[in-house]
Amino acid sequence: MSFRERTWAGVAGVGLTAGLLAVTTVGGFRGRAARADSGAQAKTAADPPLERAREQVKMLDDLYKTAVVSITERYVGKQDEQPAIMVAKDVFGAMRKQGWHSAKLLDATGDPMNESNAPQTDFEKAAVKEINAGKPYFDRVVGQGKDRRLLAATVVPVVNKKCAICHNHRKVGEVLGFIRYDVPIKE
Ligand code: HEC
Repeated sequence: MSFRERTWAGVAGVGLTAGLLAVTTVGGFRGRAARADSGAQAKTAADPPLERAREQVKMLDDLYKTAVVSITERYVGKQDEQPAIMVAKDVFGAMRKQGWHSAKLLDATGDPMNESNAPQTDFEKAAVKEINAGKPYFDRVVGQGKDRRLLAATVVPVVNKKCAICHNHRKVGEVLGFIRYDVPIKE
């Protein structure tokens, strides 16, 4: 099995792509789904800034998930060790501080390790329902004009047995949480 196949990105990535393809109408625009449906001929997307924001989420998702899984696989062996989420939180904080985007790892089980990781906003509460209903990806556009933002959620499964060292009673493959993104849609 290749490294990529073993990674979280490998597990969730397939689902994420499928999820993106399943996205139909967002804010009246047919996005990636329209492109996928009509294949090569549809070169002009109806909403290029939104397409770029979705692309950015996809890229960030691969980056964050690969990093968290790699840190877990390489450095984490016992329950009393620092989980990779601590590094992820530092990076999320830095990205937010620099004004790039906001990202947060949230719980989807109803029983978070840290209460502050429970879904709180309207979007997060809607996302947890969609993710638990089997959707690997869910998004929504908020704001108008220059202030438009893409809110997105991507599933986080129990990627491997190491996750279960700390997340007790969870089986590999089960939904554990999701990453919530909030990225600007730049014109
Ligand atoms: C060494 C123990 C440990 C391991 C291994 C671990 N986690 Fe966690 N995880 C934690 C802790 C502790 C928190 C709460 C962190 C905080 O204070 O925000 C957490 C939080 C989370 C959350 C946010 C929801 C919640 O329960 O608070 C998700 C989702 C998550 N982990 C997924 C994973 C995945 C996926 C893996 C395997 C790649 C993994 N974790 C491996 C300890 C661990």
